[in-house]
Amino acid sequence: MNRKQRRADSKTGTTTATRIPNALEKMLLQKAIGHHQAGQFREAEAGYREILAANPRHTDALGYLGLLAHHAGHSDAGIELLRKAIGSDRTNPEPHYNLARVLSDLGRDDEAIVHNRKALELAPDFPGAHTNLAALLLLRGRAIEALTVAANGLRTDNSAGLRSTFVLALQSADPSTIEANPQIVALLVRALNEPWARPRDLAAAAGAILLRRPSMKRCVARLADGTPAQLSDLFDAADLASLASEGLFDALLTAAPVTTIDVERVVTGVCRALLGAIDRGDADAEEAAKSWLPLAASIAQQSFLNEYVAGVSEQENEQIGRLSDSITAALEKNEAVAPVRLAVLASYLPLHTLKSADRLAGQEGLAPLRALIAQQVVNPRGEDAIRPTIEHLTAIEDDVSQKVRQQYEENPYPRWTRLAADTQALPLDHYMRARLPGAPYKAMGKGAPEVLVAGCGTGQHAIQRALQFAGANVLAVDLSLNSLSYAVRKTRELGLTNLSYAQADILALPADRMFDVVDSSGVLHHLKNPLDGWRKLSGLVKPGGLMHIGLYSALARQDINAARTALKAQGRDYSAADVRHLRADIAGRAAGDPMHNITRFSDFFSLSECRDLLFHVQEHQFTIPQIAAFLAENGFTFLGFETPARANYLRRFPQDKAATNLENWAAFEKENPATFAQMYQFWIQKS
Ligand SMILES: C[S@@+](CC[C@H](N)C(=O)[O-])C[C@H]1O[C@@H](n2cnc3c(N)ncnc32)[C@H](O)[C@@H]1O
Repeated sequence: MNRKQRRADSKTGTTTATRIPNALEKMLLQKAIGHHQAGQFREAEAGYREILAANPRHTDALGYLGLLAHHAGHSDAGIELLRKAIGSDRTNPEPHYNLARVLSDLGRDDEAIVHNRKALELAPDFPGAHTNLAALLLLRGRAIEALTVAANGLRTDNSAGLRSTFVLALQSADPSTIEANPQIVALLVRALNEPWARPRDLAAAAGAILLRRPSMKRCVARLADGTPAQLSDLFDAADLASLASEGLFDALLTAAPVTTIDVERVVTGVCRALLGAIDRGDADAEEAAKSWLPLAASIAQQSFLNEYVAGVSEQENEQIGRLSDSITAALEKNEAVAPVRLAVLASYLPLHTLKSADRLAGQEGLAPLRALIAQQVVNPRGEDAIRPTIEHLTAIEDDVSQKVRQQYEENPYPRWTRLAADTQALPLDHYMRARLPGAPYKAMGKGAPEVLVAGCGTGQHAIQRALQFAGANVLAVDLSLNSLSYAVRKTRELGLTNLSYAQADILALPADRMFDVVDSSGVLHHLKNPLDGWRKLSGLVKPGGLMHIGLYSALARQDINAARTALKAQGRDYSAADVRHLRADIAGRAAGDPMHNITRFSDFFSLSECRDLLFHVQEHQFTIPQIAAFLAENGFTFLGFETPARANYLRRFPQDKAATNLENWAAFEKENPATFAQMYQFWIQKS
């Protein structure tokens, strides 16, 4: 029987089957699957058809042939084959799972949900089914169901895909519905500690859950009353024990800046009360403060992470001075320092700035503060040693570049702690197809892409690229040596060798090295003329190569613009002290005040990010038509935005399946002005 006949048979359901032995059938199936996985689709199809010719109800052959048909663009035929596969074996979860994938590719999410659920009913641990079902529910706006499915799946499936789906669901879920679910809170603690995503992406959810804890509610109320901040008024012993046992407060404080204003108030209230107790010097208060050591140590780490963003009163300043003098004197004399005193001081200033700070690491009594001392003394010393070794690739002559450099020397951006563990390296083509399904991306076939990260800051993004793209060789450049030193330290900690750093001004980069990928996120809008910088970087992209760009959106930053105008009217400069002062003013505004809106931006909660948000020495903003004009003038194809709004966009413009029509996107943004609050982040490809 030839292929034509077989096709006709499978369409009409008639067969001229001759059974073949089981062992041979198995062998043929393995061979066909091998071809399928290797991308040899013709051979795979022939193999499946050969099996079906002998056994027309062969579930796997029907199912895989259905997937093949779908991927070849014949989705209706694929669905029919998958339904036949289901009919041929009602106990088999796999065809349900695969049918769900096909239906979800076609945007038929509700039907896909039904089949995914069926797969899980038949096999509660079916690999990938929890991830897909949770993602589908999330797409349908059913965040709590998605979270429950992901949490159940995580009992047996610890895959990176399911963990990141859990994080997405958590970010969308209403905290009031999860606060009392200890399983989900425990997973959130793991997600922060391991971590499963950038910890700062989880800070809002963690803060919202914490604020629903009775202990926190009491503490917030007492601080709002202006009650004299005695330690026991803030948290009693039972409160402290329950907060410690859950681990959420500690995980948040040590992983990322707190981004909830009331939690920030609790943290600063505790600091103030501890400092007061120590300053009063009464032995009872100091003894009582010892039970606060674990919390004090975590708060000190938090203060370092947010770069001491909270303002301090004159009284606190005097108390800090006395505490700092006494600890410095003890260190000079090689006397033991009480851990709780050190932790409280470290909540107000970084320990490496103390004279003789290097002696801290050797004090046995400070063992409970090892992580804090590493953060505030050992790591900064490591960066000091790295700084002179960084290569200078270009001069920095442009006046705006010099000013911008100064800002980021003072406040390297951002002070990050951990990256999502076990990032899977994918070939570039594979990564792009998965990231932007349906995009008009032309495969590059690059096994070992050369990547430039321009304006890498403290290295978080560059490290991610080095981990994401299989075989990548990454060069990351920035103006700020302090940022680069941080980046190099983190890169070494992670043991990466495919990533090198240099100090350079984008505007002066030599054209003698070309790249397959140029990535510049959150950078070009800080140039005197961003389009000059963008053109310069475009010139370094090889033909057919890619750019990933992040730019501020004028529409999304309307609140910020109003605040910037108001702050400018106060006529201050942009010193760190000014930022703290003005920020404290904004943080204290009542909920109805227009400035209060600024506290909803997570960047408000650390010094470098707040400076970036409100007080940048140089900021431009873009619109989608401006981006479209640049692409047209410079020969780039738009491949897509990276945004969680993609699903909503596709619902609004279902005919734009690749989500690449910039006119539609401009209309969508007008209707939803906050869409690009985290910048326009997009991929483009050079012709
Ligand atoms: C907001 S930070 C973003 C850092 C990083 N891309 C990220 O997303 O985490 C901006 C960075 O761009 C760098 N930068 C600004 N202008 C630059 C220029 N002309 N050349 C090189 N780097 C520049 C700054 O030094 C700063 O580290």
